[in-house]
Amino acid sequence: MAAAGALAQAPSPSANLALTPPMGWNSWNKFACNVSEDMIKSMADAMVKSGMKDAGYVYVNIDDCWQVSRDANGNIVADPQRFPRGMKALGDYIHSLGLKFGVYSDAGSKTCAGRPGGLGHEYQDALQYAAWGVDYLKYDWCNTTTQDARASYANMRAALDASGRPIVLSICEWGKAQPWLWGKQVGGNLWRTTDDIKDRWGGPEKWPDGSCCSNGVLAILDLQVGLQSYAGPGHWNDPDMLEVGNGGMSDTEYRSHFSLWAILAAPLISGNDLRDMRPEIHDILTNKEVIAIDQDALGRGGERVAKDGDLEVWSKQLQDGSRAVVLLNRSEKGQQITVHWEELGYPASLGASVRDLWAHKDLGKFTGKFTGAVASHGVVMVTVKP
Ligand code: GLA
Repeated sequence: MAAAGALAQAPSPSANLALTPPMGWNSWNKFACNVSEDMIKSMADAMVKSGMKDAGYVYVNIDDCWQVSRDANGNIVADPQRFPRGMKALGDYIHSLGLKFGVYSDAGSKTCAGRPGGLGHEYQDALQYAAWGVDYLKYDWCNTTTQDARASYANMRAALDASGRPIVLSICEWGKAQPWLWGKQVGGNLWRTTDDIKDRWGGPEKWPDGSCCSNGVLAILDLQVGLQSYAGPGHWNDPDMLEVGNGGMSDTEYRSHFSLWAILAAPLISGNDLRDMRPEIHDILTNKEVIAIDQDALGRGGERVAKDGDLEVWSKQLQDGSRAVVLLNRSEKGQQITVHWEELGYPASLGASVRDLWAHKDLGKFTGKFTGAVASHGVVMVTVKP
């Protein structure tokens, strides 16, 4: 009994992971299955050289398609053509730059791209990941047939913990079984709330190629309404990885995408080619004032506090008692948007300093409300500090 009690109290190696939303890069949105050791290494180099590392991005995550088979003992095998020096060497290289190493697998029999999944190999894979120096596992949900989501992810967390290495667990179940209700209890550090993001602004209209639907920035944003209370240090809602810089949206729209993900306290996992960024894209991804809102230590999720047709106000409480505010204009023309202090939980009589986080400018002291001129599909993002 004493031994069992001691075991139950042993701190989990994953106890202090992701106390702020994870920041990094992932291969999927830009490269899909076209991953290789050379590409990942050059991306890690670019993360350092571009200033992304200095801005807080740390995880270098390989998504689907690095794995090809299992060997006679059931060990997962990385593609020997694309990763000729093996995963341990790649992890060592990433670590040598002061960055962290992430891989992808799937709770079912196969990954979404049809590679071997983790089902039945959870403990074996976790030990292998730990031996490679993996710091982050994105665990997908394809080919899971009748599996129970909560039990499947609890099992993988237990396997990761048993490996002895602290490994972030990214639950990629697309929100089907409401993972915000159980993700924290099973030791998930983040959980996808929706299907895969598309590099598009719009809502749930049909795409030009006739395929259906949704999953642009606005559609995903709308699905985050009401989830804010589930976010907190160590466990985050994940509205999917960033599309900033991938070419399907305007710079104004990318600025909005980034601002909204930051106010949501979403993981900031960039998904563009870091080796080849226009200055405008670089300046969006490395805006330290906006990143500071995402990374605020209180760990509150942002919420929509006002909506008048296409004009919205989003607010997030910060550790120092101030608020981050995004004024969002979803309409096709420039418009004025006003945030009233009561919407932020402040009395109307309060005087507060307003700072613009994109202009990097103090705008002065305001009482009761603040009005910003917001471009079509744009945001004004400010802090309001009593
Ligand atoms: C699913 C996930 C994506 C990506 C692909 C890889 O669609 O939701 O983020 O990992 O699988 O196949």
